[in-house]
Amino acid sequence: MLYEKLARPVLFRIGRGDAEKAHHSTLTMLEHVSDNRIIRQSMIKANQVYAPVTVAGVKFPNPIGLAAGMDKNGVAIGAWPALGFGFAEVGTVTWHPQPGNPQPRLFRLPGSQALINRMGFNNDGAQALAARLAISPPVNCPIGVSIGKSKITPLEEATSDYLESMRVLYRFADYFAVNVSSPNTPGLRSLQGAEQMRELLGALRAESESLAAGRPERPIFVKIAPDLTEPAIAELLEVCQDTGVTGVIATNTTLGRDGVLQQEESIAAEPGGLSGAPLRSISRAVVEFVHRETDGKMPIIGSGGVMSPDHAQSLFDAGASLVQLYSGLVYSGPSLVRRSARRAKRARRHRRAQPRR
Ligand SMILES: Cc1cc2nc3c(=O)[nH]c(=O)nc-3n(C[C@H](O)[C@H](O)[C@H](O)COP(=O)(O)O)c2cc1C
Repeated sequence: MLYEKLARPVLFRIGRGDAEKAHHSTLTMLEHVSDNRIIRQSMIKANQVYAPVTVAGVKFPNPIGLAAGMDKNGVAIGAWPALGFGFAEVGTVTWHPQPGNPQPRLFRLPGSQALINRMGFNNDGAQALAARLAISPPVNCPIGVSIGKSKITPLEEATSDYLESMRVLYRFADYFAVNVSSPNTPGLRSLQGAEQMRELLGALRAESESLAAGRPERPIFVKIAPDLTEPAIAELLEVCQDTGVTGVIATNTTLGRDGVLQQEESIAAEPGGLSGAPLRSISRAVVEFVHRETDGKMPIIGSGGVMSPDHAQSLFDAGASLVQLYSGLVYSGPSLVRRSARRAKRARRHRRAQPRR
């Protein structure tokens, strides 16, 4: 409430016509939180909801996480548990540092509770992220690392680009997210084809096995686009199972524009991926499909359109083990994180109290 009444108007004013400026101001503020142990610890005490869950061998203090793209370079990792998150996914990083697409590249659609972005993986590169994580103090929650393909690397050499990033970041990641679904890197989504996936995921699994050197491997999640057909998702899931990939993140942003208010159609014409409220029903349907297709055996991280605790719960109900949010943080503020984690905790307690049939 305080966020919606006070902080959001200020942030939106800072970034009037330039949503990326507001994003940078927020991140700078959070960097200070991250760097100050006393502030960080007192915020953790105030905001962390303890609703522990273990997924793929990783222990999460609660199942609500920060989605990729907000903290691409891992500059504020200590701040995320302080806001109440049970995990944070940094990145997407690429092997080669790159500036991303020309600005403006981030647009707000407040009436539709949505964002459109065509950032294009602006990031400092995998080595810079590794260097930052190497000196960061221990964080109170798991950190996922999202890796993508550098723009300058030809698609045919995508596998080695992902492998390089995995190598330098392996010891800092609690899990990896393989991003093959951003709509903002030309050709990237074609890597979701079964043949390309088999090569990429097979190579990443083999590398992971060798990097783990006999210890438990880092789980690998593949982040998929909401615009894939069900047969294409089914094929991709088969490859995931064959290559021993842990699970999927469903979903990334959509190229569709359904659910955008008519008065925001001119902004909706901007190229890029749509996130927030209009994505909700699509992501939920993909989570449900993956859960059904894999008989509930494959861990799913739900992502897309979580703007309220009930929305997060609906992704859990559809089969997600963990849920991430990004746009909801922009529109509803950090209280959404705590409220969603509490909602999940209540639902779990309620389920446990139900008599078994
Ligand atoms: C500005 C912006 C940048 C993003 N960057 C990335 C990214 O680098 N990697 C990625 O996997 N997803 C990225 N995403 C997608 C989010 O992680 C998330 O999957 C998507 O926004 C749907 O969730 P939401 O509706 O809660 O925002 C980005 C989203 C936004 C709005």
